[in-house]
Amino acid sequence: DERTFVMVKPDGVQRGLVGDVVSRFEERGLKLVAGKFMQIDQDLAHEHYGEHEDKPFFDDLVDFITSGPVFAMVWQGADATRQVRSMVGETDPAESAPGTIRGDYGLDLGRNVIHASDHEDEGANEREIALFFDDDELVDYERVDETWLYEEEDH
Ligand code: GTP
Ligand code: MG
Repeated sequence: DERTFVMVKPDGVQRGLVGDVVSRFEERGLKLVAGKFMQIDQDLAHEHYGEHEDKPFFDDLVDFITSGPVFAMVWQGADATRQVRSMVGETDPAESAPGTIRGDYGLDLGRNVIHASDHEDEGANEREIALFFDDDELVDYERVDETWLYEEEDH
Protein backbone atom coordinates (compact mmCIF):
# COMPACT_ATOMS: atom_id res chain seq x y z
CA ASP A 1 0.00 0.00 0.00
CA GLU A 2 1.27 3.44 -0.86
CA ARG A 3 1.46 6.33 1.60
CA THR A 4 1.52 10.01 0.78
CA PHE A 5 2.09 13.27 2.64
CA VAL A 6 -0.63 15.94 2.72
CA MET A 7 -0.82 19.24 4.58
CA VAL A 8 -3.55 21.83 5.04
CA LYS A 9 -1.65 25.10 4.66
CA PRO A 10 -2.06 28.12 7.00
CA ASP A 11 -4.80 29.65 4.80
CA GLY A 12 -6.80 26.42 4.89
CA VAL A 13 -6.52 26.19 8.68
CA GLN A 14 -7.55 29.84 9.16
CA ARG A 15 -10.49 29.38 6.77
CA GLY A 16 -11.78 26.35 8.66
CA LEU A 17 -11.20 23.86 5.85
CA VAL A 18 -9.35 21.15 7.82
CA GLY A 19 -12.45 19.05 8.43
CA ASP A 20 -13.59 19.22 4.83
CA VAL A 21 -10.18 18.25 3.48
CA VAL A 22 -9.98 15.29 5.87
CA SER A 23 -13.52 14.23 4.90
CA ARG A 24 -12.74 14.19 1.20
CA PHE A 25 -9.85 11.75 1.62
CA GLU A 26 -11.77 9.63 4.14
CA GLU A 27 -14.77 9.34 1.84
CA ARG A 28 -12.55 8.43 -1.10
CA GLY A 29 -11.46 5.41 0.94
CA LEU A 30 -7.96 6.50 1.79
CA LYS A 31 -6.80 5.59 5.27
CA LEU A 32 -5.50 8.24 7.69
CA VAL A 33 -2.33 6.83 9.28
CA ALA A 34 -0.83 9.97 10.86
CA GLY A 35 -1.83 13.54 11.69
CA LYS A 36 -0.16 16.48 13.41
CA PHE A 37 -1.35 20.03 14.07
CA MET A 38 1.82 22.11 14.17
CA GLN A 39 3.66 25.28 13.27
CA ILE A 40 6.44 24.97 10.67
CA ASP A 41 9.72 26.70 11.58
CA GLN A 42 12.22 28.29 9.18
CA ASP A 43 14.47 25.20 8.99
CA LEU A 44 11.64 22.83 8.19
CA ALA A 45 10.19 25.27 5.63
CA HIS A 46 13.54 25.53 3.83
CA GLU A 47 13.92 21.75 3.80
CA HIS A 48 10.37 21.07 2.69
CA TYR A 49 10.45 23.58 -0.15
CA GLY A 50 14.20 23.16 -0.93
CA GLU A 51 13.47 22.37 -4.58
CA HIS A 52 12.20 25.96 -5.00
CA GLU A 53 15.16 27.67 -3.30
CA ASP A 54 16.23 29.52 -6.45
CA LYS A 55 12.75 30.61 -7.52
CA PRO A 56 11.72 34.28 -7.19
CA PHE A 57 8.72 33.32 -5.05
CA PHE A 58 10.75 31.29 -2.52
CA ASP A 59 10.89 33.90 0.28
CA ASP A 60 7.14 34.56 0.03
CA LEU A 61 6.51 30.81 0.07
CA VAL A 62 8.56 30.33 3.25
CA ASP A 63 6.92 33.37 4.91
CA PHE A 64 3.48 32.00 4.09
CA ILE A 65 4.02 28.39 5.15
CA THR A 66 5.48 29.54 8.51
CA SER A 67 2.79 32.21 9.06
CA GLY A 68 0.37 30.06 11.06
CA PRO A 69 -0.43 26.50 12.05
CA VAL A 70 -0.76 23.71 9.49
CA PHE A 71 -2.35 20.27 9.68
CA ALA A 72 0.08 17.62 8.43
CA MET A 73 -1.19 14.16 7.53
CA VAL A 74 -0.23 10.82 6.02
CA TRP A 75 -2.84 9.01 3.90
CA GLN A 76 -2.54 5.42 2.71
CA GLY A 77 -4.20 3.51 -0.12
CA ALA A 78 -3.81 2.12 -3.62
CA ASP A 79 -1.86 4.59 -5.78
CA ALA A 80 -2.31 7.14 -2.98
CA THR A 81 0.14 9.80 -4.18
CA ARG A 82 -1.33 10.10 -7.67
CA GLN A 83 -4.93 9.85 -6.45
CA VAL A 84 -4.44 12.57 -3.86
CA ARG A 85 -2.78 14.90 -6.37
CA SER A 86 -5.72 14.49 -8.73
CA MET A 87 -8.09 15.43 -5.87
CA VAL A 88 -5.94 18.48 -5.02
CA GLY A 89 -6.03 20.00 -8.52
CA GLU A 90 -3.44 22.13 -10.32
CA THR A 91 -0.82 24.27 -8.54
CA ASP A 92 -2.81 27.40 -9.45
CA PRO A 93 -6.36 27.28 -8.06
CA ALA A 94 -7.46 29.46 -10.97
CA GLU A 95 -6.51 26.61 -13.32
CA SER A 96 -8.01 23.88 -11.12
CA ALA A 97 -11.24 22.13 -12.07
CA PRO A 98 -14.31 22.48 -9.85
CA GLY A 99 -14.53 19.35 -7.72
CA THR A 100 -10.85 19.49 -6.84
CA ILE A 101 -9.83 20.96 -3.49
CA ARG A 102 -7.99 23.93 -4.99
CA GLY A 103 -10.70 24.35 -7.61
CA ASP A 104 -13.40 24.48 -4.95
CA TYR A 105 -11.61 26.60 -2.33
CA GLY A 106 -8.97 28.78 -3.94
CA LEU A 107 -8.44 31.66 -6.35
CA ASP A 108 -4.78 32.59 -5.85
CA LEU A 109 -1.53 30.73 -6.64
CA GLY A 110 0.12 31.81 -3.39
CA ARG A 111 -2.87 30.80 -1.24
CA ASN A 112 -3.73 27.35 -2.50
CA VAL A 113 -5.01 25.72 0.71
CA ILE A 114 -3.23 22.38 0.55
CA HIS A 115 0.08 20.67 -0.12
CA ALA A 116 0.43 17.11 -1.38
CA SER A 117 3.49 15.10 -2.41
CA ASP A 118 4.31 15.29 -6.11
CA HIS A 119 3.65 11.91 -7.79
CA GLU A 120 6.02 12.80 -10.63
CA ASP A 121 8.89 13.23 -8.17
CA GLU A 122 9.94 9.66 -7.36
CA GLY A 123 10.15 9.11 -3.60
CA ALA A 124 8.87 12.58 -2.68
CA ASN A 125 6.06 11.01 -0.65
CA GLU A 126 8.36 8.97 1.61
CA ARG A 127 10.89 11.83 1.90
CA GLU A 128 8.19 14.26 3.03
CA ILE A 129 6.63 11.75 5.43
CA ALA A 130 10.06 11.26 7.06
CA LEU A 131 10.57 15.02 7.26
CA PHE A 132 7.36 15.59 9.23
CA PHE A 133 6.82 12.34 11.14
CA ASP A 134 8.82 9.84 13.20
CA ASP A 135 8.27 6.18 12.33
CA ASP A 136 6.37 5.58 15.57
CA GLU A 137 3.85 8.31 14.69
CA LEU A 138 2.55 6.25 11.76
CA VAL A 139 -0.24 3.95 12.89
CA ASP A 140 -0.86 0.62 11.18
CA TYR A 141 -4.46 -0.59 11.30
CA GLU A 142 -7.26 -1.91 9.12
CA ARG A 143 -10.29 0.16 8.17
CA VAL A 144 -13.46 -1.89 8.65
CA ASP A 145 -14.60 -1.10 5.10
CA GLU A 146 -11.43 -2.25 3.36
CA THR A 147 -13.06 -5.40 1.95
CA TRP A 148 -15.71 -3.12 0.40
CA LEU A 149 -13.20 -0.67 -1.03
CA TYR A 150 -10.90 -3.15 -2.76
CA GLU A 151 -11.71 -6.24 -4.82
CA GLU A 152 -8.43 -7.93 -4.01
CA GLU A 153 -7.16 -8.32 -0.45
CA ASP A 154 -3.60 -7.49 -1.47
CA HIS A 155 -3.76 -3.94 -2.84
P1 GTP B 1 2.79 22.25 -3.19
O1 GTP B 1 1.83 21.16 -2.89
O2 GTP B 1 2.66 23.42 -2.25
O3 GTP B 1 4.22 21.75 -3.33
O4 GTP B 1 2.31 22.82 -4.60
P2 GTP B 1 2.57 22.20 -6.02
O5 GTP B 1 3.38 20.94 -5.92
O6 GTP B 1 1.28 22.14 -6.73
O7 GTP B 1 3.46 23.34 -6.70
P3 GTP B 1 5.03 23.56 -6.62
O8 GTP B 1 5.69 22.54 -5.78
O9 GTP B 1 5.51 23.76 -8.01
O10 GTP B 1 5.11 24.98 -5.89
C1 GTP B 1 5.07 25.08 -4.47
C2 GTP B 1 4.22 26.28 -4.08
O11 GTP B 1 4.85 27.46 -4.53
C3 GTP B 1 2.85 26.29 -4.75
O12 GTP B 1 1.89 25.62 -3.96
C4 GTP B 1 2.54 27.77 -4.87
O13 GTP B 1 1.90 28.26 -3.71
C5 GTP B 1 3.91 28.41 -4.97
N1 GTP B 1 4.21 28.73 -6.36
C6 GTP B 1 4.50 27.86 -7.37
N2 GTP B 1 4.76 28.50 -8.51
C7 GTP B 1 4.65 29.82 -8.23
C8 GTP B 1 4.80 31.03 -9.00
O14 GTP B 1 5.09 31.00 -10.19
N3 GTP B 1 4.60 32.21 -8.33
C9 GTP B 1 4.28 32.26 -7.00
N4 GTP B 1 4.08 33.45 -6.41
N5 GTP B 1 4.12 31.15 -6.25
C10 GTP B 1 4.30 29.97 -6.85
MG1 MG C 1 5.17 20.72 -4.89
